[in-house]
Amino acid sequence: MPFIIAEPSNDHRESYSEYVGRGGYRTAWAKVRAMEATAVRTAVLSAGLRGRGGAGFPTAKKWELATAVEASRRVLIINGAEGEPGSFKDRTLMTLAPHRVLEGILIAAHAIQATDILFYINDQFGDSISSLEHALREAEQDGLPVSMIKLLPETHTYIAGEETALINALMGLPAQPWHKPPYPTTQGYQGHPTIVNNAETVAVLPIIFEKGVTWFVRNQPMLFSVSGDVKRPGVYEMPLGTPLRQLLDITGGPSQNSIQAVLPGGFSMPWLKPEQFDTPLDYESLRLLGTGLGGSIIVIGDERSLYDQTRQIANFFAQETCGKCPLCVRGTRTLAQQMAELANTFNPEAVGTLVQSAKKFRHKGICSFLDTAAHMVEEYAVALNTRTVL
Ligand SMILES: Cc1cc2nc3c(=O)[nH]c(=O)nc-3n(C[C@H](O)[C@H](O)[C@H](O)COP(=O)(O)O)c2cc1C
Repeated sequence: MPFIIAEPSNDHRESYSEYVGRGGYRTAWAKVRAMEATAVRTAVLSAGLRGRGGAGFPTAKKWELATAVEASRRVLIINGAEGEPGSFKDRTLMTLAPHRVLEGILIAAHAIQATDILFYINDQFGDSISSLEHALREAEQDGLPVSMIKLLPETHTYIAGEETALINALMGLPAQPWHKPPYPTTQGYQGHPTIVNNAETVAVLPIIFEKGVTWFVRNQPMLFSVSGDVKRPGVYEMPLGTPLRQLLDITGGPSQNSIQAVLPGGFSMPWLKPEQFDTPLDYESLRLLGTGLGGSIIVIGDERSLYDQTRQIANFFAQETCGKCPLCVRGTRTLAQQMAELANTFNPEAVGTLVQSAKKFRHKGICSFLDTAAHMVEEYAVALNTRTVL
């Protein structure tokens, strides 16, 4: 397997014969194909699989929502947009282990009885696209039912990774989110019940059926892209719940004197400080600390300034807002502007203004974009106010 628990990814692309040689398609898919769709969903529910696209929503529960709707068509969309800064796990997975993704898609499609399978992929990922195209040809030649999978490279924007924006883009509309409800599970692509699953989420499915639910519950392999100030950045497959400190040790530790903070969910989740590095990397533990997982672990060394990092993040959101909600445009611009002003003044009044602005923009907007930007800035401004950062 190209990803070995606790080893950084190498650049070996697993071929069809290698994949089949270690039981690929012949174990999990062969088993699932003979099962009722409801039994597949029940097994995934028991395995406790949660989506790897960032929100961590239980996969089987989402499937149930779409299969509960009577419909002549049901659409499965694979999300290969991966626009989160610092995240490169999906791209690496799609490039190096394309058959693991394809086998997962077959399993997901069977579980929800999909009539259409659309694979949305960031068009900047040329290596992933050619690897998947090659894998589709290999699988088809061997008689696997992959002809239904439509690989659709789409122009990259950050917001296009959000599920409703992604569905709009696939329908030829601007890549902008819509206000839910309706949820895609009831009314998604062309009005049909639609499941959007992250590329890693589906790639985990063969493991559940190959190793069994009990093994999976105990081990829960998860991909982490580790970047920033560590000696060996890369994609690491580790059990969900691995303490952050252990992951950092495996990456060779800091490439600077020490680590001052870690963003456990890319630009979307507030940082952890060194005294929190023993926290298990799981949804609940991180939620209790006001942050979360997102597949991207960004390590900030002590030679960097947290001010610069937060300002960069605020600028990113101001640039990437899709423009649909005027409040989001105004909010992200205001936060970026006030972060910039802080560099010149750095006085308690400016910090207080920033805290107030950030609070004002929390939980607002059509999607979570503005809230995410405001959360990050608020965290920084509050820490600055209490002198826990500079
Ligand atoms: C601004 C924004 C960007 C997102 N980008 C991605 C992305 O690049 N890839 C992804 O899988 N999910 C992304 N998501 C999450 C998706 O909306 C959706 O929850 C996910 O694809 C569902 O898959 P899962 O249940 O398998 O995790 C994004 C969400 C937001 C709010």
